[in-house]
Amino acid sequence: MARLAGGVVLVTAHDEDDGPAGAPAGMTATAFLSVSLSPPLVLVSVRSGSRMDDVLERAPRWAASLLSQEQRVLAGRFAMSGRLSDRLLFREVPHTLGERSGAPLVKGALATLECETESRVAAGDHTLVIGRVLDTTLDGEAGEPLLYYRGAYRRMG
Ligand SMILES: Cc1cc2nc3c(=O)[nH]c(=O)nc-3n(C[C@H](O)[C@H](O)[C@H](O)COP(=O)(O)O)c2cc1C
Repeated sequence: MARLAGGVVLVTAHDEDDGPAGAPAGMTATAFLSVSLSPPLVLVSVRSGSRMDDVLERAPRWAASLLSQEQRVLAGRFAMSGRLSDRLLFREVPHTLGERSGAPLVKGALATLECETESRVAAGDHTLVIGRVLDTTLDGEAGEPLLYYRGAYRRMG
């Protein structure tokens, strides 16, 4: 599967269980795809038992930011296992909080999608989280997509 080139997204949610007021959580993912147009459904596959799997089990709504080439460093940071705190990482990432989900929407992303979990399917060592798309934003000024292929971040062309 390393030979399948893919776009990179940051899956985010507001984790109510992190501290008294909750905190933002994020995870870099490539296993993200469009499932249905009517209704609009997308899917992300998260490793069972990972922090984001726990967060998405609790949070009914979440978001995905489709990352641009300029966001390679951000993708790397949110893929580090055992990182200390997503709350601290988000301090350095320009973002807004989605009106429908409360999840961070990364500024400068190619597009953002706010979702509500429709179903969760256990699949081997991952959980498939299928979300109904509640809202989207498109950044007309955004640059090129961040790609991942054969174990490395790439650019188009
Ligand atoms: C390019 C890239 C794509 C990734 N895609 C996924 C994915 O689709 N699903 C997933 O569960 N983890 C994926 N990961 C791994 C998670 O980003 C990483 O395991 C997680 O952030 C580590 O935190 P945790 O172990 O504390 O959960 C990917 C990592 C990278 C670098």
